[in-house]
Amino acid sequence: MYFQQGIHKFRGRTYLCLVRTEIGQNIQQAISFLKQGETVAIPTETVYGLAADGTNEDAILKIFKAKGRPTSNPLILHFPSIEATFPYVDEFPETLLKLAEQFSPGPLTFILPKSTLVPSLITAGQETVAVRVPEHPMTLELLRTIDFPIAAPSANRYGGISPTTAGHVQSQLDGKIPYILDGGACQTGLESTIIGLADEKVIVYRLGGISIESLSEALGYAPEVKNEMHHGVRTSGMVKYHYATETPLFFMHSNQMDFQDTDGVILFSQERLHALSIETFVLSKNGDMNEAAKNLYAALHEMDQRNCTRIFIEEFPNVGLGKTMNDRLKRATAKFQS
Ligand code: TXA
Ligand code: MG
Repeated sequence: MYFQQGIHKFRGRTYLCLVRTEIGQNIQQAISFLKQGETVAIPTETVYGLAADGTNEDAILKIFKAKGRPTSNPLILHFPSIEATFPYVDEFPETLLKLAEQFSPGPLTFILPKSTLVPSLITAGQETVAVRVPEHPMTLELLRTIDFPIAAPSANRYGGISPTTAGHVQSQLDGKIPYILDGGACQTGLESTIIGLADEKVIVYRLGGISIESLSEALGYAPEVKNEMHHGVRTSGMVKYHYATETPLFFMHSNQMDFQDTDGVILFSQERLHALSIETFVLSKNGDMNEAAKNLYAALHEMDQRNCTRIFIEEFPNVGLGKTMNDRLKRATAKFQS
């Protein structure tokens, strides 16, 4: 038996329980906690997720509690294959199935009409459910072993930076969850792209690890991006302040003439490095967008630990994953605009 942190009574005696968060690579251990209705952090190719049995309302509530996230924000259900999603959705339209064939497993999430098997706590009362097949060998093995889908938001405290290593999860959720399944650094490093279908056209609700260009090529047209609040469809990526550091964060172009010695800088490539002598993090020496994406959240986590007064970050070229990164940074810097 595993006790939540807090005060518990057992055989007439009172105990104060402190949760120790264990980090390990034991998939069976993770499964055992999930079956007991506990939360476990799991690796995916995008970011670490905070997982619980997606059919168990008590377990799902623990996700919201550990993250400090409002229950008005729906969760993604994770499956071992697209076929495994079928009982949980009322319809999987042909157009989206074609994209699934090409991009799943991978960083693409589908918004679909939910079936009655999906608890309303997952969808925040909406009639649609978000489903995805993550691409990480350990998590795929875990998903294949259990007979329920996994609900998993990013394993950060609400509003914070998504974790891309087990250490990032520990720094935010230590003592709040029993286990972190350590699958190394996430390969993509940005959350999944979220899509749905409206009037037969694909709509992008959140930019993510699959670029708009890749979707356009597969579809034969450029999907519309609707990643601001609208029509009651809610994604946390739409919240104005999100993905934020504790240290004030600014785009370099907004203030670059007035660096102080105590500031820190995150650069896309090495190109502008020579001009600076302050705390610096280079995302990709050669300016490779995929490498920069993989390192972006780690850079934000690390610079946040370095006690800089302010962090400045270079804006990315507005193509491919650069669009996704600029989107995240726009929401992160919004917190510090007066
Ligand atoms: O890459 C990812 O998607 C990661 C990994 C762990 O899979 N998960 C993730 O979850 O980013 P989260 O909760 O941080 O973001 C999921 C987004 C939220 O913004 C949520 O509002 C949206 O998906 N979402 C979930 N269900 C939805 C629905 N039925 N309709 C619209 N948006 C939905
Ligand atoms: Mg998140």
